[in-house]
This record gives sequence, structure tokens and C-alpha cells, in this order.
Amino acid sequence: MAKNLELVEKQDFKIDSLISNKNAVYLIKWDGQGAMQQWEVTNQEGDSLLIDQNMHQIGFSEDYIILIDAAFKFSLNVMLYNIFPQKEDIDAFIRKLTSGVQQDSTDIYLIHRADLRPNVKQVKAKKIVIPIETVHFSVNYKNPDGIVTIFSAHNCSACPAEWLRSYDREALNPERTIRRDKVGLLAVGAMDVGQVGRVVIDAKNGTYLADRSKYYYNTSRNEAHTWGIGLYTHRDMCSADNTTDDITHIYWQSYGLRSDMLTVFIRDLYDDPKRNRKIPVPQVLEATREGSRYTIFCLETAEMTVEDFYTFDQETYFWSLQFVPRSEPRANIPPYKDGYIFTTVTVGYQQSNGMYDYQPEIWIFDATALSKGAICKLNHPDMSFGFTIHSVWTPDAQPNVNPNYKIDIKKDYDYMLKRILNKQTRREISQIFNQYVYPNF
Ligand SMILES: [Fe+2]
Repeated sequence: MAKNLELVEKQDFKIDSLISNKNAVYLIKWDGQGAMQQWEVTNQEGDSLLIDQNMHQIGFSEDYIILIDAAFKFSLNVMLYNIFPQKEDIDAFIRKLTSGVQQDSTDIYLIHRADLRPNVKQVKAKKIVIPIETVHFSVNYKNPDGIVTIFSAHNCSACPAEWLRSYDREALNPERTIRRDKVGLLAVGAMDVGQVGRVVIDAKNGTYLADRSKYYYNTSRNEAHTWGIGLYTHRDMCSADNTTDDITHIYWQSYGLRSDMLTVFIRDLYDDPKRNRKIPVPQVLEATREGSRYTIFCLETAEMTVEDFYTFDQETYFWSLQFVPRSEPRANIPPYKDGYIFTTVTVGYQQSNGMYDYQPEIWIFDATALSKGAICKLNHPDMSFGFTIHSVWTPDAQPNVNPNYKIDIKKDYDYMLKRILNKQTRREISQIFNQYVYPNF
């Protein structure tokens, strides 16, 4: 342990030097040992990159690092919440005043990995713009002749940065406030149909290859639709050991449409005729009135066609999904389908009074037969969640791992707490940390 702390000690001044208030993008490389390396990412003219939304994710192929300005807006209203406690009308007013919409296109940045040399401080990125908003993506590791293939989630006019607030009203029944048990969930009422993409880029020339790119969308109610496209999974998506040369199958989640999840606030934000969209707003509202349920579907990426899907019941909320490979591979099944899809769901069970009682469960699907429904359903009285989002799978979870690099929790947080200017606030927050946080580590 003493040795671990020593390591942290040596890193502290480095972390300090990495904090900057310059409006720029930095790439930081760390191999788990020693000092971090840092490069400022610039455009081709050498100017700092300015990001309008946020860099939610990073991807890489054999030769390129891929960054996107993600459709996960970072407007002031998502940082200001309940400033005047219990004064909902003031909060609603401030939200309206300080909110914004996500862009309806995506800036993609490609950095040649060979340019990340230890003796340089800046690295140039090529910028490509695609005419659709993007929140997440995966990249084929192989990039033959500099051709980079990205698989992308397009949350079109569906704003994951916003959440349902207690004073929100239903867009289709404005006299009705949002259901109390939905407050805090992502405001996933979609104002256009989502899409999933295969985006192909010539990274050498920095051009978008529209003729080789392909998008899938589907406006059906309860089949393999893309209303409210959400998370996805594929084999080795977050693997620390394996890269994925060619992602042949991806399992996608769609949230569907619920009139009790689309708010007046979101409708007004995205009811813009100038916005780049597939489906006109009146049709989207009509589809929301009809409703559409949570769905999982398997998409093969060569033709971008759906091979299999499952639609959940009306009162089953489908949150996270994760591909788990079979321990014994089967020769006749493509590796990207040879496994299970682990999902977290909240299942509503109707009571004798007609109301629903919700229970968190884990449902496991056979990745080769989604349409059969879950092959295994698990629940436990000690398992409690209302909502889950990103997840990860690891082949072996070990209870007593002692990593080389370990942060001293108290030292790490005290560094920030010391910088709170107001003495009383600093004292109060420090007391919470001393009483409730530090004793747990
Ligand atoms: Fe995310």
C-alpha cells in the first residue's frame, strides 16, 4: 500500500498541470504507470478545437483516434437545478431561459495515431461533418487504406441531456403534469425517429463517403422500430483484451414512444420546421399518441438489415444491455451472435386495484433468438434499481483485486473541497464527506 500511495504522490503535480481553463481539446495518454502524456488537438490551421456540445466518447481504430461533438448538449439549464428549492415556477422559468437544442449534425474528428509523438505538444485533427446528430459510436478496428467505419447511434431530436422534472406537463395532454414516478428519468420523448448508422470515412483525405455509408430507421409501432434509439451492445464492446476488426452484428435498444414521457418542454424545444428531420412533427406526435414499446433488435452491419427482434410488454422498461459471449464457442454461429444478451429491466406487475407495482429484474436473451423472449429472468429482494444506463461485462470478476494504481479517496476529494470559497459551505460539505463518504473506504 505504501508503494501505491507513493505513486499517487508523484502523479499529483502532473494532474495539476493537466487542469486548464483554456477552451481547447486535449488528448491524454496514460499506460497505467508513470506520467501522463498530453497533446492539444487542433484543426488543420493549428487553432484550438471548439466543442459546442460535449465529447461524450472516444473511439479508436488501428491508425486513428475518433472524437465526436456528441448530441448530448451541455446547456446551462442542465447544470442549474432547483436553485430556489420548492419554487418550481422559478426553476421552470430558469430552465426555459437557459436551455438549448442539440445540433442536428455531427462534427467528427480524426487524429492519426502516428502523429501522437512524445516530443510534440499539438496534434492536428481532420474534421468531417455528417448531416445527423450522434450520441454514441463504435469503430471497426481495421481501417484498410485509411477507410474508417463507424457504427453510430442517432438520437434524432431526442434529448438525453434533459430529465423529467416534477413541473413538466405531458405534450399531448398539457393539463396533466408528468407522473410522479417518472420524475428524474431521461426525457426520452423523441421528436423524430432515431436512426442507426454505418458511417464510412476516408481518413487520409478527411472525407465522408456517403455512397458507402448506410442508415437504418423504422417507424413501425412495435417491430424493430427506431423510435427513441438508445444504447447498444456487441461482442467485445468494452474489452480490455480484444479489438474488434469488423463488427458484424449489433444489438440495439429502442425506447419507443410514450405519451406520458413526452413533455411540453421537449416538444417546444424540437418543434422546429428548419430542423434536419425524417418525420414531420405532427406525425411524430400522432405516433406518440398511439404509443410504441421498448424493443431490442439485432442488426447485421453488411446490409444494415434486422435479423431478429423482441418487443417488451407495455409496462416493462428496458434499460441496459450487454453482450456476454458463450464460454464454449459454436462453429456454425458467427462470433458476434454466439452469446447472450444480459439486460436490466423494470417490470410492472398489475395489482388487484389496477395499479402497477414495479420490480427490477435481469433478463437474459439468447443472442441468436431474441424473438423467443428472455430465456432466464432473475430478481432478488436485495437488488434495487429504478434506472440503469451504461454497463460493462468482464469475463471474471474478482473480489480482492489490489491494483497498482490506487487513489487515496480522502486526499483526492479534499483537494477539491479546500477550494470551495464560502467557508460555511466548505465546512458543511466537508462534514458530509467526513461522516458519510470517507468511512466507507
Ligand atoms: Fe453515454
